[in-house]
Amino acid sequence: MAIDRSGLAALMEREERAFVDAHPRSAELFERARASLLGGVPMNWMSKWPGAFPPFVADASGGSFRCVDGHEYVDFCLGDTGAMTGHSPAVTVAAIHDRIERGITFMLPTEDAIWVGEELQRRFGLPFWQFTLTATDANRFAIRLARQVTGRPKILVYNYCYHGTVDETFITIRDGRPGARDGNLGPPVDPAVTTRVVEWNDVDALDAALAHGDVAAVLAEPVMTNIGIVQPAPGYHDALRDLTRRSGTLLIIDETHTICAGPGGYTREEHLEPDVLVIGKPIAGGLPAGTYGLTEAIAERVTASIELEHCDVGGIGGTLAGNALSLAAMRATLESVLTSDAYVHTVSLAQRWTAGVQAAIDEVGLPWHVTRLGCRAEYLFGPDRPHNGAEAAAMDDFDLQRFTHLYALNRGVLLTPFHNMALIAPQATAADVDRHTDLFAGMARELRDLSAR
Ligand SMILES: Cc1ncc(COP(=O)(O)O)c(C=O)c1O
Repeated sequence: MAIDRSGLAALMEREERAFVDAHPRSAELFERARASLLGGVPMNWMSKWPGAFPPFVADASGGSFRCVDGHEYVDFCLGDTGAMTGHSPAVTVAAIHDRIERGITFMLPTEDAIWVGEELQRRFGLPFWQFTLTATDANRFAIRLARQVTGRPKILVYNYCYHGTVDETFITIRDGRPGARDGNLGPPVDPAVTTRVVEWNDVDALDAALAHGDVAAVLAEPVMTNIGIVQPAPGYHDALRDLTRRSGTLLIIDETHTICAGPGGYTREEHLEPDVLVIGKPIAGGLPAGTYGLTEAIAERVTASIELEHCDVGGIGGTLAGNALSLAAMRATLESVLTSDAYVHTVSLAQRWTAGVQAAIDEVGLPWHVTRLGCRAEYLFGPDRPHNGAEAAAMDDFDLQRFTHLYALNRGVLLTPFHNMALIAPQATAADVDRHTDLFAGMARELRDLSAR
C-alpha cells in the first residue's frame, strides 16, 4: 500500500492547524522564546517536534503531563528515557528534598555513592563504578580508558548507532565506505580516523574490522534502539564477545536505553559479559546522572595507568560528576522505583500496546510492523524486522513520522520525537495504552482511505 503524498500533506496541514488552534499559550511563549533562545528552544533537538512549535510544559506527574494550554497528555516519550521512572517519582523527590537541604555538591564522597556502587554491582555484575552527569560522558570516558589501557587508537561502532554526543560515533557507511553521518556538525577529524564502523549482526564484517588489531573497544547497544529497535540475531552476542576477546578488544555495552529490558538491562537478562557497562538517563529519576562499571581486570589496568598527580587533567571526570544530589536521587530511584515489580507492570502494558497496534496494522493492511524490547515498543514503516542499521534507516519516512506524531499529540498522546517509540511509565494504565491504540487505529484507517482514493 503506497501512501498518497499529496493526501498526506493535506492531512498534515489539517493536523498542524488543529495543533496551533489548540495551543495559543504555547504559541505566545514560543514567540517570546525566539527573542532569547536559538531557534526558540533551550536545546536544538526540541525543534524536531512536529507542528509549528513544541507544546510548553506546565507540570507532570507519573506517566502524564499538562501543557500550558491546559491539555493533559499520556506521556510515552518520557524525556526519551530520562523520565522512564515516570515524572517526579515520590521517593526520588523526597530524597532530593532531603539532600538538597544539606548540600548539593562537594568534590567529596557521600555514603550514598557506596550504596549505589553496591547496587550497580548487584544489578549488572561489574565490580567497580564511576559517576558522570550524562550517558554521553560515561561513553566518552569509557572510550578514553579503553584507548589508554589497550594502547590502540580506534573504536568500533555500528552503522546508525547512537551513543550521545560522542565525536567518535557519528559515522555511517555510505556506498560501502565509512564517512561522517548526515548532520555531523563540525567534526574534529574525519570520523574514519578514530572509528571503524560495521553493520549490526554481520559477524564477518566485525571479524575483518577487528583483525586490523587497532580497535581498543567495540561500543554497542546490546539491542539497537536509536534507529528503531534492531534485535541481535541468534548467536550474535556470543560471536561479538568471542571476537572481541580473541582480538584483545574491550567490549563496552551501553545500557542507557536497553534498561527497558529489565532491572539489570539486557546484560543481565541475556547474561552478557561486557568489560565496561555504561548507563545514564533514568537512573536518577530524571536528575542528571550517568555511570560506568568496569570488570576487575580492566579496573586494575585503569588504576595502573592513572598518575595521582595528574588525575584531574586526564580527560575524564567533571566538577559536578558524582555530586551528592545525583547520588541521593540515584539511590532512591534504584532502591524503590526501577524495581523488578515495576517492570512486571510496564512490560505487560508494552505487550498490550504492541498487540493493539499490530492488530490495527493488520486490520487495514498497512505494510508496517511492531516490535518491542521490555517496556519499550515501537512501530516501523516496513513489513519486516530490520537486521541492521541500514535496513532500519531505509524504513524511515520523515514526513510520515511527523504526521503520526502530530496526529497522536493532537489526541493527547506524546511519542518519542525520533522514530515511533513508546516507553511505558510505572504509573501508566491500560486505559493510557488503549487511548493510543484507538487513535492509532483511526489514523491507520485514514491512511488506508488515502491510499484507496
Ligand atoms: C544508547 C544511548 N547512549 C547514550 C545516550 C546519551 O545520553 P545523554 O544524551 O543523556 O548523554 C543516548 C541518548 O539518546 C543513548 O540512546
